[in-house]
Amino acid sequence: MQTRVTQMLGIKYPIVQGGMQWVGLAEMAAAVSNAGGLGILTALTQPTPEALAKEIVRCREMTDKPFAVNLTILPTIKPVPYEDYARVIVGSGIRIVETAGRNPEPYLPIFKSADIKVIHKCTSLRHALKAERIGCDMVSVDGFECAGHPGEDDVTNQILLPLAARRLQIPFLASGGFGDGRGLAAALAMGADGINMGTRFMVTREAPVHERVKQAMVDASELDTALIYRTLRNTARVFKNSVAEQVLAIEGQSGQTNFDDIRPLVQGTRGKQLLAEGELDSGIWSAGMVVGLIDDIPSCAELIDRIVVEAQQIINERLVTIVSQ
Ligand SMILES: Cc1cc2nc3c(=O)[nH]c(=O)nc-3n(C[C@H](O)[C@H](O)[C@H](O)COP(=O)(O)O)c2cc1C
Repeated sequence: MQTRVTQMLGIKYPIVQGGMQWVGLAEMAAAVSNAGGLGILTALTQPTPEALAKEIVRCREMTDKPFAVNLTILPTIKPVPYEDYARVIVGSGIRIVETAGRNPEPYLPIFKSADIKVIHKCTSLRHALKAERIGCDMVSVDGFECAGHPGEDDVTNQILLPLAARRLQIPFLASGGFGDGRGLAAALAMGADGINMGTRFMVTREAPVHERVKQAMVDASELDTALIYRTLRNTARVFKNSVAEQVLAIEGQSGQTNFDDIRPLVQGTRGKQLLAEGELDSGIWSAGMVVGLIDDIPSCAELIDRIVVEAQQIINERLVTIVSQ
């Protein structure tokens, strides 16, 4: 399977593991890269730029294949030294960066001076076109189905991907709602050059996440995610547990939502602890609608091989038969 994505990134299969706060550690990224995809470390999971430098070294000890670093640029209560993280990425010899959140333009000169390939993840066609215009090498188009921040437009991939295919010149990844070979075949058919997955990679043997969290996602249906922070226009798709429901109840009260009422429920430290200790109602965690398609906990290699074989079968057998009748 050769696409513009495999060629540009130097990987075997057009399958990327998107940045995941608290999950994108060396174990995760190396497992995906060793299996022929592109694994991504999440910069802000590391408390300091120095810690990120060490995590990059650790990942390199686990794989000799390409891997990337995600830099998520979002408004935070505590200022984040983004530029220092960017300099560590460059200084560590990383060749591929995934940016997400705000416009990555301020950091592009740093990355471009080192000839790093930049994949910008965005949730609308207008942001994808902007990313292309400012010099990003690739975009990841994140549909409404996705885990984390789907934006406020609520456009699903069924529309976003063909639009991206019509309008973009640079290669793009289909992101949000992908987890099997049907999804990969469909993404390629809609014009994408590969897929980006978060939730599905979280439910693999190597993901550094407590077994109870993985099992909860296996047991979940496509109805088990919730959209929180809608009233704050900073929507996030998370697993629908009792804490997410409490947040929704607060947001459902009349009048403007006060983030201070929600903050204690959604603190990042609580989410981090939940993923490590498996107390399922102790915080929130990002999860996409694709949980409805997840019913096992394979290794990353088993997962990637299965997706590729299934997609090839669909294309070579089902689709070829249909069009050759
Ligand atoms: C637990 C979790 C944490 C995530 N954290 C981040 C993050 O810090 N930065 C980011 O750009 N995307 C983050 N994402 C989004 C993924 O990179 C990816 O875009 C998304 O999961 C794709 O949708 P899917 O889950 O349906 O595959 C996260 C996703 C999950 C499941």
